[in-house]
Amino acid sequence: MADLSVGVPGLDMHNPLMLASGVQGGSAGALHRVAASDAGGLVTKSIGPVPREMYPGPVCVEAMDSVILNAMGLPNPGADAFAEIISNEQFSKPVLVSIFGGDTENFVEVAQKMSESGAEALELNLSCPHSKPGSRELIIGQQPELIREVVTAVRDAVDIPLYAKLTPNTSNITIEAKAALEAGADGLSLINTVSAIEVDPFAGRPIIGNLLCGMSGPAIRPIAQRKVAEISLAMLRGELPAAPIIGMGGICSGLDVVRFVMLGASAVQIGSALIWGDVDKFKEISFELSEFMDQNGYQNISSMQGIALDSLEGLS
Ligand SMILES: Cc1cc2nc3c(=O)[nH]c(=O)nc-3n(C[C@H](O)[C@H](O)[C@H](O)COP(=O)(O)O)c2cc1C
Repeated sequence: MADLSVGVPGLDMHNPLMLASGVQGGSAGALHRVAASDAGGLVTKSIGPVPREMYPGPVCVEAMDSVILNAMGLPNPGADAFAEIISNEQFSKPVLVSIFGGDTENFVEVAQKMSESGAEALELNLSCPHSKPGSRELIIGQQPELIREVVTAVRDAVDIPLYAKLTPNTSNITIEAKAALEAGADGLSLINTVSAIEVDPFAGRPIIGNLLCGMSGPAIRPIAQRKVAEISLAMLRGELPAAPIIGMGGICSGLDVVRFVMLGASAVQIGSALIWGDVDKFKEISFELSEFMDQNGYQNISSMQGIALDSLEGLS
């Protein structure tokens, strides 16, 4: 039987399949429920400095086959309430706590509260495309100098591993990856949702309550893979510091996991697939992954990692 276990800074997991942020990780009950599935690790809903309500609906729709659109508005219980959960609950799987803030001070404050309550590692959500409607300049993940500032400040404030979660909505993702890694991130998570909009022709207006939204699900998987490949290649060429990549975007099957790993990912996250398949998806995907590895002679995840990059190496 293939060995599916993986270790990345702060997270030793029995398989590389993690719950993606925002999809079921907003409360202790939800996290325990996913921990009881075959997930290897959990990422929490993004936690900010103060409690936030959801945007007016609709906040999440299946707009067409394989396309999920959402603008939830980062609803979360706030750092103080979530710190209680982290300090009081024992989860049976490693937990990566996702955090966000409107500015560097917010990020540092939430990071310190999570770290003091016992968080094992943090994912910095730098990339939400709808954190403030109409305020594109506030999207930290699209501005390398702001990424550098936030990651440096959080790195100085806490000792636990940090993963920078990147947006695909930039022209060259290696620039943002470089800013995050040079500022001290231990790893990268990518991708967050792709900026989108959908119109209801009968209503004559966008279908999502927030008007602007982010797209996820199988339709974005090749985009996500391309971003992972661009970063992996830059690491191979020495243009970026080497660091683990946690890949995500549309993963629905064991073969999808293999695709991300062959492009250099160390682990993956799964979000939208749970909207269709709930937490049983983890068992199904891990079975398919293990079956593929057995049938194709891969004994462990690292034996497949990055092999699809060989044919890309000549690209300039
Ligand atoms: C309903 C919903 C809520 C999300 N909330 C968050 C969030 O709070 N923080 C975050 O970093 N990403 C959030 N995401 C993005 C996912 O974590 C993931 O990056 C993206 O959906 C791509 O993966 P997928 O296609 O497997 O869903 C959310 C996605 C969805 C669909």
